[in-house]
Amino acid sequence: MQKVDWDWENLGFQYRRLPFRYLSVHKDGEWHEGGLTTDSTLHISEASTALHYGQNCFEGMKAYQCKDGSVNLFRPDQNAKRLKASCERLMMPAFPEDKFVEAVKEVVNANAKYIPPYGTGATLYIRPLVIGVGDTIGVSPAPEYIFTIFATPVGSYFKGGIKPANFWITDYDRAAPKGTGAAKVGGNYGGSLIPGTEAKKRNFADAVYLDPATHSKIEEVGSANFFGITKDNRFATPLSPSILPSITKYSLLYLAKHKLGLETSEEPVYLDQLDEFKEVGACGTAAVITPVGGMQYHDKFIEFYSETEVGPVTQKLYDLLVGIQFGDVEGPEGWIQKVPITEA
Ligand code: PLP
Ligand code: COI
Repeated sequence: MQKVDWDWENLGFQYRRLPFRYLSVHKDGEWHEGGLTTDSTLHISEASTALHYGQNCFEGMKAYQCKDGSVNLFRPDQNAKRLKASCERLMMPAFPEDKFVEAVKEVVNANAKYIPPYGTGATLYIRPLVIGVGDTIGVSPAPEYIFTIFATPVGSYFKGGIKPANFWITDYDRAAPKGTGAAKVGGNYGGSLIPGTEAKKRNFADAVYLDPATHSKIEEVGSANFFGITKDNRFATPLSPSILPSITKYSLLYLAKHKLGLETSEEPVYLDQLDEFKEVGACGTAAVITPVGGMQYHDKFIEFYSETEVGPVTQKLYDLLVGIQFGDVEGPEGWIQKVPITEA
């Protein structure tokens, strides 16, 4: 296939409009037959609940071009499941999980020219979303919904790929204890703009949040989960009802245990015990694995493995994860789904 001629190595994480997206409408109690469209503008009522009351949720996933030219999706069934959970949290109808995966494949196939080539490190980022639309003014669920999926080629989210980055522990909260932190809803991200911007202004990659009830435990990064390797070689990651259940994090828990033979646990990660970690990382679809060089909390800087070098366990996890995603390493059964590419 003839690819477009783009500077794949220097894409960054920006939106580039591609020719095709998928769209389906929920009306009169059911999802209507969806399909591909070239229209990148959504035409919605000014009284849509997505605009006023945050009745919207989304997913983030990627398509990976392999060495042999085939195209991988990484655990798309898990994104389908999480989107359903996010929809349920906001009283939105869930899009059928099997149809979700098929629709993702349709969008990737239709935009196949724009899947970054193997070896460039870039990927095709996929953004499914569900929004409440139609005419509503009281605080109540919308009469209609739109499910859409667009895609855009991206490079690294945090500058420099697998280079350590420093993070800033913020005093702002991301989510309330029994709020919407575990759902991938727009409101969580609106609230993260100030802390994220403040962190970047101070030259940190992003903000890290503490648990909203006691401010004594690490929750997660604004755009990724947190994990650490303890000095006694355990893979530990925060246990909290208000963080996003990261598909990457659960994949790393599995790989650390079954491929590296490490003890693993989801447990409270106390701020005053961070020096028990020799390596720390941020993980997510966009972030992949970003080693954390250090974290600033008020006037204290806590340094982990190194601000310039990648720790050995983090590197092994990265090689396994990225190897599986790009088809160079065989993954556990069911993790990879191939996208049939028919577009010439
Ligand atoms: N936490 C937050 C707040 C996120 O936005 C993301 C990104 O999706 C993650 C964690 C990582 O989740 P996943 O690994 O499923 O991409
Ligand atoms: C992702 O990793 O897919 C996300 O949704 C994070 C986003 C804030 C870019």
